[in-house]
Amino acid sequence: MGQPLIDLRNISKSFDGTMVLDDLNLSVKENTFVTLLGPSGCGKTTTLRIIGGFESPDRGEVIFDGQNITSLPPNKRQLNTVFQKYALFTHMSIAENIAFGLKIKNKSRSYIQDKIKYALKLVNLDGFENRSVSSLSGGQQQRIAIARAIVNEPRVLLLDEPLGALDLKLRQDMQYELIRLKNELGITFIYVTHDQEEALTMSDTIVVMNQGYIQQMGSPENIYNEPENAFVADFIGESNIVPGIMLRDELVQIFGAKFNCVDKGFGLNKPVDVVIRPEDIDLVAPENGTLTGKVTHLIFKGVHYEMEVTSPDGFEWLVHSTDLFPVGQDVGIHVDPFDIQIMNKPASEDEEAVGINE
Ligand SMILES: Nc1ncnc2c1ncn2[C@@H]1O[C@H](COP(=O)(O)OP(=O)(O)O)[C@@H](O)[C@H]1O
Ligand SMILES: [Mg+2]
Repeated sequence: MGQPLIDLRNISKSFDGTMVLDDLNLSVKENTFVTLLGPSGCGKTTTLRIIGGFESPDRGEVIFDGQNITSLPPNKRQLNTVFQKYALFTHMSIAENIAFGLKIKNKSRSYIQDKIKYALKLVNLDGFENRSVSSLSGGQQQRIAIARAIVNEPRVLLLDEPLGALDLKLRQDMQYELIRLKNELGITFIYVTHDQEEALTMSDTIVVMNQGYIQQMGSPENIYNEPENAFVADFIGESNIVPGIMLRDELVQIFGAKFNCVDKGFGLNKPVDVVIRPEDIDLVAPENGTLTGKVTHLIFKGVHYEMEVTSPDGFEWLVHSTDLFPVGQDVGIHVDPFDIQIMNKPASEDEEAVGINE
């Protein structure tokens, strides 16, 4: 597979005595779309700023294409950053904004003109050269910020919540734009967001972070279907997380009932956490269910119904289904073995502390 383009090795960073990144290791392959995903304050921006050279780590190394660039200033790195706030110069035209970095580099007039045209075409703002910044919508301004980064031909584009200020519809449009852009440019994108849907839509690889640690790294499918711990399961989508006992390989007991599953290697009678996605619960007649419950809440969500099914011991299951079961109806709960995900319980209180209960 070759060496990674970017390698963060044992990166630690504190601010005012508080550890923000703790021995972080992260490899990014060339030409991938990598997303750092996690709740506010988990260290995503700090990680990005360390890659960009705007922040230096207390310990550890930043390797770029085999070279140690830990102490290289931002403008000497082969990457460009697009920030959450577009930071365009309002007294300059669009063309002048895009040309800014190139003029500093003393590029020729014709080179700059060509580049501006090319970049505007890429971000679907053909012919906007002489418009003023203030005449553009938020989405258009963010496209200009991206165009401004692209003209420098970076090998890596760093994007810190670039769509955070846009409304939902525009954000979704821009998500597809960015995927297209990444494919056309053939460069590496490192993208920061706290929005799990955005991460699932756009990424080749998602890095789930919490409190300065990487919790899990993998493809969107891998992260969604096989969360390694309760934090990831809960953060990456709605989940039912219930205590269970792994009786033996491929058999787990939940609230006294035995469910077949596909997980192995947990040992005998081992307490575990069980994750079941709302869409993976099949509601059936009570006599056909592995567990029973009563529908206690129902909302129509457009594509599916969202139901709450309360089991006799009081646990409230979240269920998504295209079939409607009215409030008050007794139902059975069935789950296919491969839709049951078994996770080790946190080994220590320390690990528990980075869990879901905060
Ligand atoms: N320059 C700074 N000085 C002091 N604290 C900072 C600074 N930058 C970030 N922090 C703190 O570090 C933590 C992680 O911040 P950040 O990397 O911005 O998280 P995220 O981008 O995931 O929201 C936060 O608690 C934040 O307040
Ligand atoms: Mg941030």
